[in-house]
Amino acid sequence: MNTNDYAIRLERSEDYRAVESLVRESFGNVYRPGCSEHYVIHVLRDDPAFIRELDFVMEQDGRLIGQNMFTQTIIEADDGRVIPVLTMGPISITPELKHRGYGKTLLDYSLKKAEGLGYGAVLFEGNIGFYGKCGFTYAREFGIRYHDLPESADDSFFLCKELIQGYLDGITGVYQTPQGYYVDDSDVAAFDKDFPPK
Ligand SMILES: CC(C)(COP(=O)(O)OP(=O)(O)OC[C@H]1O[C@@H](n2cnc3c(N)ncnc32)[C@H](O)[C@@H]1OP(=O)(O)O)[C@@H](O)C(=O)NCCC(=O)NCCS
Repeated sequence: MNTNDYAIRLERSEDYRAVESLVRESFGNVYRPGCSEHYVIHVLRDDPAFIRELDFVMEQDGRLIGQNMFTQTIIEADDGRVIPVLTMGPISITPELKHRGYGKTLLDYSLKKAEGLGYGAVLFEGNIGFYGKCGFTYAREFGIRYHDLPESADDSFFLCKELIQGYLDGITGVYQTPQGYYVDDSDVAAFDKDFPPK
């Protein structure tokens, strides 16, 4: 990766379809046959919890090669407080440019912007192999539990990074995934019909 062969900017409405295609190509058949993430972003953009100021695309030679986005959510603290936090994703890099450093670059940039807007922490489900390079660690180390997960279950997918150091000090509680991330398979299938067959 060349450090000056890309640009990162906010997503515009005219990018929507191309970004959905990018996400579909990037996630398609990676975690399961097909994917739902292109429909998730389609729905999320209209969600009140979605943060337009943190909805980024990465461009190279006038073509979209990556995207990342954030949504507001909460931790329901055990002491009754409601702690506002961010969740992130989907994040993706176009298949032919994966593993060249673009994902980390986009992620680091996005996190800096989120920090600049004053958000305190980011939590989501992901692979520590990638996100660990950008300062994420297991959310359990902060005393935060994943909603609806039995205590004995593996929670190593559930990651956290403080953007304000100490933001989660003295807090234990349960993280809630924003409702916008839950989509029906039938809606995904209907939406997917408008894309070229894979
Ligand atoms: C995950 C994704 C965004 C990473 O972007 P990328 O440009 O391929 O990653 P980078 O090249 O910046 O990798 C940064 C580091 O993370 C590691 N890494 C990248 N993807 C990884 C993965 N899936 N699992 C484990 N480690 C990974 C790399 O080894 C690299 O470390 P290194 O520099 O020491 O070699 C990209 O591969 C992608 O779009 N994947 C499909 C969609 C997806 O899975 N999104 C995330 C869902 S949680």
